[in-house]
Amino acid sequence: MRRAAVFLALLLCLLWTGAQGEDGGGTGKKEGEFDIQGAHDQSSSQTQMRTDLWAELKELRDMAIEHRIKIQRLEQDNTVLETRMSSSEKEVEEVKRENADRPQVAFSAGLTDAGAVGPFTTDITLKYSKVFTNIGQAYSPTTGIFTAPVRGVYYFRFNAWENRSAETGVQLFHNNHKKMGLYDYNGGSGRVSTSNSMVLQLEKGDVVYIVLLSSYPVYDDSNNYIIFSGFLLFPQ
Ligand SMILES: *[C@@H]1O[C@H](CO)[C@@H](O)[C@H](O)[C@H]1NC(C)=O
Repeated sequence: MRRAAVFLALLLCLLWTGAQGEDGGGTGKKEGEFDIQGAHDQSSSQTQMRTDLWAELKELRDMAIEHRIKIQRLEQDNTVLETRMSSSEKEVEEVKRENADRPQVAFSAGLTDAGAVGPFTTDITLKYSKVFTNIGQAYSPTTGIFTAPVRGVYYFRFNAWENRSAETGVQLFHNNHKKMGLYDYNGGSGRVSTSNSMVLQLEKGDVVYIVLLSSYPVYDDSNNYIIFSGFLLFPQ
């Protein structure tokens, strides 16, 4: 804006000195000579020049104003963009921090390669010994128990499989509470397969495990028929 003002001032000076120069330059007639027609021409051409000059100045002023408005608009846009940028940068930082803070909990374990398990005379906690995934080490293959490392919502999936007997049955426990019984009976010889899943809200330290009911068998080998899986959906 200041540059435009300086430019205008300079232009005015130039035009003014130009006009003076023309005045000083005279008409080429000798001094003392008087030419009415010449004087008249000169004065009318000066008036014309002034009018042109004012018109030009007005145009320049309008351009300067337009220019200033454009700059102001650009500056406003820039401020809006900068605000938006910094707020979205903040959001990205927040998401990054949340992800970094978020505990990573996911496990999946197969029961055994030994084949037949059970039937037993009492209920037993199944120890899924073939650990495929155990991010966060919240599942223990030695006890078969999953312990919630944080308060949150978790997903669990489990199943039972058997091909020696026509029936099988397991249960999912949350702490001391049976949350779900899973039984299958196919009425004859052959394979029995059953599965289910559950979303559970757990407190930190809560445990989840699968129990094989007394008198029910399961069967697993390197085919990994029986798998217990779980993961943290989100902390609370
Ligand atoms: C059960 O399935 C396994 C294959 O995974 C097989 O080796 C075994 O013989 C089957 N048992 C019976 C009783 O069918």
